[in-house]
Amino acid sequence: MEESVKKLTAETIASISACKTVSELNDVRVKTLGKSGALTALLKGMKDVPPEKRPAAGKIVNDARETLEQAVSERQKALENEELLRKLSEERIDITIDSPLKNHGGLHPLSIMRNRIEEFFCSLGFVIADSPEIETDYYNFEALNIPADHPAREMQDTFFITENILLRSQTSSGQIRMMEKVKPPIKMLSPGRVFRSDEADATHSPVFHQVEGLVVDKGITMCDLKGILDLFAKKFFSNETKTRFRPSYFPFTEPSVEVDASCGKCGGKGCNVCKGTGWIEIMGAGMVNRNVLKNCGINPDEYTGFAFGCGLDRITNIIYGISDARIPFENDLRFLKQFN
Ligand code: PHE
Repeated sequence: MEESVKKLTAETIASISACKTVSELNDVRVKTLGKSGALTALLKGMKDVPPEKRPAAGKIVNDARETLEQAVSERQKALENEELLRKLSEERIDITIDSPLKNHGGLHPLSIMRNRIEEFFCSLGFVIADSPEIETDYYNFEALNIPADHPAREMQDTFFITENILLRSQTSSGQIRMMEKVKPPIKMLSPGRVFRSDEADATHSPVFHQVEGLVVDKGITMCDLKGILDLFAKKFFSNETKTRFRPSYFPFTEPSVEVDASCGKCGGKGCNVCKGTGWIEIMGAGMVNRNVLKNCGINPDEYTGFAFGCGLDRITNIIYGISDARIPFENDLRFLKQFN
């Protein structure tokens, strides 16, 4: 018995060293140490050994098993290491070779504009805040002073998922989420996608983008709103650009305004861009309605605020002279490459 164990061990060690791959090694291991392997068979033959010799014989077999297991594990490490070195050298990349890929990606015009707008407002101390695209009726309407049967709901043709859950039709929902979480002073900018059940044409799309702004603090007035938007228009259109407020209506602001910028193309004389009026509408805005502040647990006798909601697609298209709102979403590389 001792002899056959020795012979088996020596033979197996020889085949272990001869293995060239991990899978060959595995075969050797199974052949000797596996359930029906040669060494296991020897262990099974123990029943024929006279009882007094069994402990010594058992030790011989177990020592052999240990020796072989160790040999397998050492060989495995060595083979894995060889494999790794081989892969590293075979798959080496020559970073000095000129790449055939000349088409680098770039930012979409909408992203460029969103980044610029974020940068501008951040420089004035605003923080950027995200809010969900799938909203509840409460945040999109109710808390914004638009109760269930309010006719203002018809201003926005909304995609309802259930009676209570909808695709937000305006980023104004983000105002509520902010004011519920953070107590004034608040200076927030919330850009994002909004959804309305509109047929797509040159100026409409069921998915578009808004940038919501909200400032709440003690003593905020409409002058602050006008001042900031004036600066915004000068920065994004030209130094000569003027802004004007036209009275408007939004349930969540009082008073509410429509903000126009003087037309950059004709300088106010009237042209095809401004449809002859000399002015281009750039956003809706107003002083945060007292009811909205109350809904968020903010005392309207102590704090006031302003909010604005600007169409990002609209601003982008005006600035880049894009005549049809559908073009930026056609994935036409000839169009998109112009912005790289
Ligand atoms: N949420 C309004 C809209 O989508 C825009 C707006 C935002 C108006 C904030 C006033 C204040 O039309």
